Amino acid sequence: MLEIPFVDLPPLHGASGTAVLPGSKSISNRVLLLAGLAGGETAVHDLLDSDDTRVMLAALKALGCTLRRDGPVLHVGGLGGRLRVHEASLFLGNAGTAMRPLTAALAVLATTQGGRFELRGVPRMHERPIGDLVDALRPLGCRVDDLGQPGYPPLLVHGDAGGRLEIGRPIRVRGDVSSQFLTALLLALPLVAADREVAVEVDGELISRPYVEITLNLLARFGIDVARDGWRRFTIPRGSAYRTPGAIRVEGDASSASYFVALGAIAAGGGAPVRIEGVGLDSIQGDIRFVDAARAMGGDVRGGPGWLEVRRGRWPLEAITLDCNHIPDAAMTLAAMALYARGTTRLTGIASWRVKETDRIAAMAAELRRLGATVVAGDDFVEITAPAPHAWRAASLHTYDDHRMAMCLALAAFNPLAGATPARPVRILDPRCVGKTFPDYFETLFGLAWTPPETVPVITVDGPTASGKGTLAAALAQRLGYHLLDSGALYRATGLAARSAGVALDDEAALARLAARLDLRFDADRVVLRGEDVTDELRLESTGALASRVSAWPAVREALHGLQLAFRRVPGLVADGRDMGTVVFPDAALKVFLTAGSAERAARRHKQLISKGIPATLDDLRADIEARDRRDLNRPVAPLRPAEDALALDNSHLSIDESVERVLGWWDERRPFGTPPAG
Ligand code: C5P
Repeated sequence: MLEIPFVDLPPLHGASGTAVLPGSKSISNRVLLLAGLAGGETAVHDLLDSDDTRVMLAALKALGCTLRRDGPVLHVGGLGGRLRVHEASLFLGNAGTAMRPLTAALAVLATTQGGRFELRGVPRMHERPIGDLVDALRPLGCRVDDLGQPGYPPLLVHGDAGGRLEIGRPIRVRGDVSSQFLTALLLALPLVAADREVAVEVDGELISRPYVEITLNLLARFGIDVARDGWRRFTIPRGSAYRTPGAIRVEGDASSASYFVALGAIAAGGGAPVRIEGVGLDSIQGDIRFVDAARAMGGDVRGGPGWLEVRRGRWPLEAITLDCNHIPDAAMTLAAMALYARGTTRLTGIASWRVKETDRIAAMAAELRRLGATVVAGDDFVEITAPAPHAWRAASLHTYDDHRMAMCLALAAFNPLAGATPARPVRILDPRCVGKTFPDYFETLFGLAWTPPETVPVITVDGPTASGKGTLAAALAQRLGYHLLDSGALYRATGLAARSAGVALDDEAALARLAARLDLRFDADRVVLRGEDVTDELRLESTGALASRVSAWPAVREALHGLQLAFRRVPGLVADGRDMGTVVFPDAALKVFLTAGSAERAARRHKQLISKGIPATLDDLRADIEARDRRDLNRPVAPLRPAEDALALDNSHLSIDESVERVLGWWDERRPFGTPPAG
């Protein structure tokens, strides 16, 4: 996951490949609650690991459920309908799918078995209405106290053991603000339906019905067959009791699929499709109907059980007018597709957008306008007209702590396909918010997106040995969410490979052959050479000396050239070495040349080695460093020197953080996004 203040997407030109979707949030949290309420153990497969499921898991644990992880499977030991803990304070983040059903379930349990439960969340959670649910619970005899503003969390639900629930008459709940209130009641009431039938009646038009269908489907999996009379009346039969299915699989998230369906419809134009695995046309999630909307706009979508394949169909896409009541979440993705459509897209029936993670109508309108689109927003609709080719702007887009805003807006980076002239990069602020449902969203998108390598931004950091390039480059890559090329590691690995193959350091042709076939993998923070972890060996001084010998041969440098270029991938690259700015990436957008006196560098290296328990003396190190400098400076090919357009940074008296900030400042001056946000 990108834990950074912003991520910059270069203009993107196409996409293809396979996206494996994380589990559905709506299914995950319902399954967790059902498994927690049922007796016995439920093995949950493919559970989503995200902010919203984490708060649900923490709540279940606090309530005395047992959670046991066994590889990808989570075993949940449920309460069997009996409270084990009678007092708890639960923090539920910004997860509506945890707040609403837990409020209802705990209210019912506290009223009959006694208990005191506080439910709270982040500040935005305390602005999301829950009054309609509270109004449905109080007439049953449930005690629900507002701890803040009436009608909003935080709440206290409490009761004394032996209380009775007034459920002889149908329970009434409003259905026109959020379907989660009905879902919450349907998940809670089977707990008290052992000896009587319980009916729930919906007041007003029920919105987001597909989510209620997910609830009914999962209730059936846990032994509760709810009878439904239209969308007005739901009856839980007498004698109902939760029964675990033993094992259950969470399907991929259909709302998350929408970004990749849109991606295929926009960017899979070259024949190869965007393939989506984890959710298919057999999905129980209502948002799978997004597929119909994407087709109506021009996408070519095929699919089967558990998979979808999407290509461009009509191009440009065509604007549609659609009542989105049946796909409230995925409908946001249509707003992003509208950026690539001819005509004005009108999305109606989206009043519920206003009470989601943020006011999504206002948020979407503001951000699409920043990109250059024309947007008209009303109480329950939005109209979007794509920017003209010259009207696209390089925008720094706010995400409002709303995962769907971030995921939708990233699709704006494909503006070259809409003819944007010039092509525009897109900055997404606070990309971490995707953690709510799809922690690896950006990584997945970058894995599929394609753009000509020369359009991928590169920052080069060159400099002499022990100047702190590696540390600076790694920190920059981390802050920008860019890939990292430690080119020295390639020369070092070639040196190691030569030593273990017994190749002489003056046999240029043999060394070059080794370099060309270098079987090197960078796995997280480990480096693997021919299947062997060489991370530590690579950093040894003796390996550096080997590298400096093999790197002097032109044929070796040539052999490693292509390998280095291959690191230039979306969204960007930070490359460190000796000749990154001069030879390998002469078109880099920012070139930094680090300098620091040899005494200073020797002192740093000394500290580093001593801290690792490796003996070293200052004088030897300095002599070594100077010898290496001489070799790197005087070799006939790619000698160490700053590129003409490099910015020099003498970091002798700068901390690492100061160096990083200096370079990020230079970088931002060259970006078209205006002032970066504070923090
Ligand atoms: O940067 P590092 O100390 O890992 O590099 C080891 C050696 O590899 C350097 O001394 C230099 O001779 C060589 N090298 C190079 N060109 C690069 C990176 C490293 O010649 N781009």
